[in-house]
Amino acid sequence: MKNIHKTVTALMQQGKGILAADESNKTANKRFDAVGVEQTEENRRKYRELLFTAPGVEQYLSGVILYDETLRQGTEDGMPFPEYLASKGVLAGIKVDQGLEDVSPDKGPEGGQVTRGLEGLEDRLKEYKTLGASFAKWRAVARVGDGYADPAIIENAKRLAEYACVCQSLDIVPIVEPEVLIDGVHSAEDTEGSLIESLAIVADALVKKGVKLSHVIFKTSMAVSGKDAENRAGAQEVAERTVRALKTALPDDVGGVVFLSGGQTPEEATGNFNAIARLEPFPWEVAFSFSRALQEPVLELWAGHDEKKELAQAEFLKRLTLAVAADAGGYSPGMESI
Ligand code: 13P
Repeated sequence: MKNIHKTVTALMQQGKGILAADESNKTANKRFDAVGVEQTEENRRKYRELLFTAPGVEQYLSGVILYDETLRQGTEDGMPFPEYLASKGVLAGIKVDQGLEDVSPDKGPEGGQVTRGLEGLEDRLKEYKTLGASFAKWRAVARVGDGYADPAIIENAKRLAEYACVCQSLDIVPIVEPEVLIDGVHSAEDTEGSLIESLAIVADALVKKGVKLSHVIFKTSMAVSGKDAENRAGAQEVAERTVRALKTALPDDVGGVVFLSGGQTPEEATGNFNAIARLEPFPWEVAFSFSRALQEPVLELWAGHDEKKELAQAEFLKRLTLAVAADAGGYSPGMESI
């Protein structure tokens, strides 16, 4: 249990966050396509190398979540990525779920989705551990309005608990991510309600399964308005609703709470995180664990051009600097232009 405790403490250390770079090949390809980058294994490697080798990245990152392919890749001069990250004091994690499945094929995603990946999980985790992973991630999704009685919510909570249990038996820290999706016209108040329901049911399932909460990190959405809502809530309201939801749903002894950006713009996610941090202290440490809010402008700048690598890395470092400033409650929108 000693190592797992150290991993939680390292991941949740103050002033750093976790980069989510665990986009599946399908998702990475979709993002490449949007900026005209050819969808090849080598381009995915190059892009991740750009991120991980940005100079000084270790000042801002405690960990990076990788995808299966990336965990097995390395830098141009042949150092495996987990080893490279370890040399900088950054922990490597691995996404182990295998994506979403519609509960009822005739209704599509609206009919609820469950996350696949329990089959063979223990063997995969054992291998990932030998490849250098010390923590893992499993993402489930819920739509605003899905509640305690929804069969997909219940099934997802059960699977998250099973996954967390297997991780802990191997000394791997599980990040449990019941994401409440931003899609829709709902209010921030509605998201707050959905956050409470989906987080509480997962916490309950973990306890019932005997998972040690202090060795679990929750990855959560913020209580934002739906992407297409007419009047979207401002940072103060989002922060108050988010913190209230977390305090209501989560036991005090969870190992930490990290935030996904979930389709917010980089400025919005950073501003909301900043407003959340200003409401500290909380019973648990909080940190950012963004993918898109750190990467979107970086990928756009790079767009597959080697000569843009340094410019893109500078943009990545800027986003990290701002996220870390937000973690201390010291971000302001004016800092975007520096
Ligand atoms: P976003 O920050 O883009 O939501 O990604 C975080 C993540 O890990 C999604 O599973």
